[in-house]
Amino acid sequence: MRTVHIDASTRYDVLIGANLIDRAGALTAEAVKPCRCAIVADDTVDALYGARVHDSFQAAGFDAVKTAFPAGEGSKHIGTLSDILEFLAERRLTRADLVVALGGGVTGDMAGFAAAVYARGIRFVQIPTTLLSAVDSSVGGKTAIDLKAGKNLAGAFHQPSLVITDTDVIRALPPEQLACGAAEVIKYGVLYDEKLFARLEDGDWHGDMDAVIERCVQWKRDVVAEDEFDTGSRAFLNLGHTFGHAIEQCSGLSVTHGQGVAIGMLMAAASAGCPDAMVRRLAACVRANGLSTHCPYPAAALAEAALTDKKRAGDAITLVLPERIGKCYLKKVPVGELRGWFERALERQEALGL
Ligand code: GLY
Repeated sequence: MRTVHIDASTRYDVLIGANLIDRAGALTAEAVKPCRCAIVADDTVDALYGARVHDSFQAAGFDAVKTAFPAGEGSKHIGTLSDILEFLAERRLTRADLVVALGGGVTGDMAGFAAAVYARGIRFVQIPTTLLSAVDSSVGGKTAIDLKAGKNLAGAFHQPSLVITDTDVIRALPPEQLACGAAEVIKYGVLYDEKLFARLEDGDWHGDMDAVIERCVQWKRDVVAEDEFDTGSRAFLNLGHTFGHAIEQCSGLSVTHGQGVAIGMLMAAASAGCPDAMVRRLAACVRANGLSTHCPYPAAALAEAALTDKKRAGDAITLVLPERIGKCYLKKVPVGELRGWFERALERQEALGL
């Protein structure tokens, strides 16, 4: 088992290894004194792992209860949050108790937000079951729900007390789910780590899943240690997200977050004037990892959708742009100029046949 220690306002470990799901209760008991715990999952993950996780917490001395909500980003709204909070209250959880977020980004964000506001904040543990949540959303304490006007518009910073990533669970994911998470893995390579990027280029790295997840979490650890509350360098983690967010919005959220980020990274590189060879190299890596490089929406619609991006500050938005593989920079852009950035990206991709 690999351990990455996170040094934020709450200090905690990220545990990464095979066959951890049945040990989740015992591993948690080393960080949190057994108490009442509420396991929150979507109905898909609950059917696969809910009983095993429940039993492991019971066996470790926790008084475990569990609840499930319908799977999908469509559930990440205030109604589901309200249901989770009512569940915690009905089951009489107190400030001494624990929420366990068992699932992907939607579950982690929502259960984490419930833990952040229930009784003015109780502890929670993340058990990510997607690659995307293992390398990104389960670490760093961002929690949120979507509002009608856009994704993640209401939320809180609330660090977990522990993150347990069972790499057998990640390896068992369907290929399209792994591809979705691969986008965030590629992101760390483009941002910080050409060696990691090179490891991903043929798409044949799932045999090294533990080491790759550990490397990504180490990068996230460094970012969170430097800028926990996202007032500076944490913005780099938004590489591909402004373009990707617009694609997700235009698709009515039928394009997955990972797919949006993958195309978004490519659009960032294309619009920033990166050399042809680099844009082609990035596109090849994206495709090798089972993701599309094609944006089917026009620049005007993308620019309109980008206006709901919570990363916007007043009339400006900060874009993350690649300089080369392994190094990016931030550029503050007036929102009125966004359409031009989308146009440049789409024209360049077309010219390169991507
Ligand atoms: N998912 C981006 C961040 O944690 O800042």
